[in-house]
Amino acid sequence: MPEAEIVLRLDRISKRFGALKANDAVSLTLRRGEVVALLGENGAGKTTLMNVLFGHYLADAGTIEVFGQPLAPGNPRAALAAGVGMVHQHFALAGNLTVLENIRLGTERLWARGVGAAREKVERLSRDFGLSVHPDARVGRLSVGERQRVEILKALYRDARILILDEPTAVLTPQEAEALFATLRRATGLGLSVIFISHKLHEVMAIADRCVVLRHGRVVGAVDTHATDRGALAALMVGGELSLPRAEARAAGAVLMRVDGVSTPDRGAVPGLKAVTLDLRAGQITGLAGVSGNGQAALAEIIGGLARPASGRLTLRDRPVRDWSPGIALAQGIARIPEDRHHQGTIGDFDLTENAVLETYRSRFSRRGWMNWRAARRFAEAIIKGYDVRCPGPETRIRLLSGGNMQKLILGRALAGGSIREAPEIILANQPVRGLDVGAIAYVQSQLIAARDRGTAVLLISEDLDEIMGLSDIIHVMSQGRLSPGFARGTMTAPELGLWMAGQKFESAHAA
Ligand SMILES: Nc1ncnc2c1ncn2[C@@H]1O[C@H](COP(=O)(O)OP(=O)(O)OP(=O)(O)O)[C@@H](O)[C@H]1O
Ligand SMILES: [Mg+2]
Repeated sequence: MPEAEIVLRLDRISKRFGALKANDAVSLTLRRGEVVALLGENGAGKTTLMNVLFGHYLADAGTIEVFGQPLAPGNPRAALAAGVGMVHQHFALAGNLTVLENIRLGTERLWARGVGAAREKVERLSRDFGLSVHPDARVGRLSVGERQRVEILKALYRDARILILDEPTAVLTPQEAEALFATLRRATGLGLSVIFISHKLHEVMAIADRCVVLRHGRVVGAVDTHATDRGALAALMVGGELSLPRAEARAAGAVLMRVDGVSTPDRGAVPGLKAVTLDLRAGQITGLAGVSGNGQAALAEIIGGLARPASGRLTLRDRPVRDWSPGIALAQGIARIPEDRHHQGTIGDFDLTENAVLETYRSRFSRRGWMNWRAARRFAEAIIKGYDVRCPGPETRIRLLSGGNMQKLILGRALAGGSIREAPEIILANQPVRGLDVGAIAYVQSQLIAARDRGTAVLLISEDLDEIMGLSDIIHVMSQGRLSPGFARGTMTAPELGLWMAGQKFESAHAA
């Protein structure tokens, strides 16, 4: 079979930010109908390379050819016109406009004629590519998975023939991810080419034809997917062997927090909590499995002091909790690793020092109203070092960090409890390793285990069953706002947990 036509050729692209070489002579080719996975540790330079391709950044050196033609550098319009479409991890859609309006926005005047033709084109594309979403739905009401479909439709509407997806599954449920893969298979069947960035190696194995691995801005390997496996890819990424930690069984201590019959109202399609009772014990990791959107967010908000139950109560060390707010929760030793690190975890234009002490500057870094910036900076430096946060230094604005490095800073902040010496009593970890590379995942998980071994109660909320089963001393499943009984380590299989996640076991437990 003759090799398919090369549709994209990046040739020795280099890009520096100050002293940091984010891309160092990176070359990459993409063929018609091919999926190439771009892999690498957090901060390896994946997003930067795609921003150079799309013209958001101007490279210091190197050239780009699309369909055999040189691409004008630093010009997103030229990239679009050449057939390159990019779906960012953080969507750029207008919530108050409809799907159709969002798709047309920026390409044509919304009041111009031709709405009928536009609608037909969108309907045809959603049929051809299996991207079901209603053209007249308001984008603000759509789920994350649906919004992503709008972004892909938008790229296809602009006749993209090369699609770039930057960590597209990081925010999707497993079912939504499956649907995306089905779409990508159809798309490549129709001759589209895809660059797919992901840290989830099982997805890469399932969808990619080839993998290109970056480390510290350089290409360290390019392999055919069928000639490699997850272990080999992980080793290429981090430059050595790697195994994920598993927690050994351990006796739990006293109940530190009890969630006692807590209910919350439903929010539209998102179910509220249904009389949830849960104990968090010292020295124990409590795993909360489930597809996100089943009440986990409501539970995390109640424990973290962001919301109040409609009925039921919290008790902390056997005392009923009366006043409860994020500040009080923190002062009581509850550290939060929020799910949405952009909106709840950080302030983009603040530097790393400011972000590191965001939650604790009053209680721990100031005295009589005077901020101790020296101590704050030392704290930030300790996190940067301890958690391998790749950045120029503590005075960097946090929004310039790669996604994973931002997450590492938040983790360090939470696990250190706002000060290097004082550890939290309870850690509320909501999807703690989302967006992290394999090396960082191993490190973070070992830190959660170490915290448990020091006597901390950990509530681990995760969609990843491997993570839940590898770390948890006791596992609960959440489905439609209901909480399953707790299952001790080793007493549950993944398929059985899957049945609880799908809600089936709740029904039979009820019937019995
Ligand atoms: N505009 C910028 N100014 C300064 N530094 C930047 C800028 N953009 C990226 N960087 C730095 O360049 C490096 C590469 O970042 P990039 O976002 O490309 O990483 P990545 O491979 O996408 O990582 P992740 O998996 O965490 O998303 C990082 O150290 C990042 O902090
Ligand atoms: Mg990135």
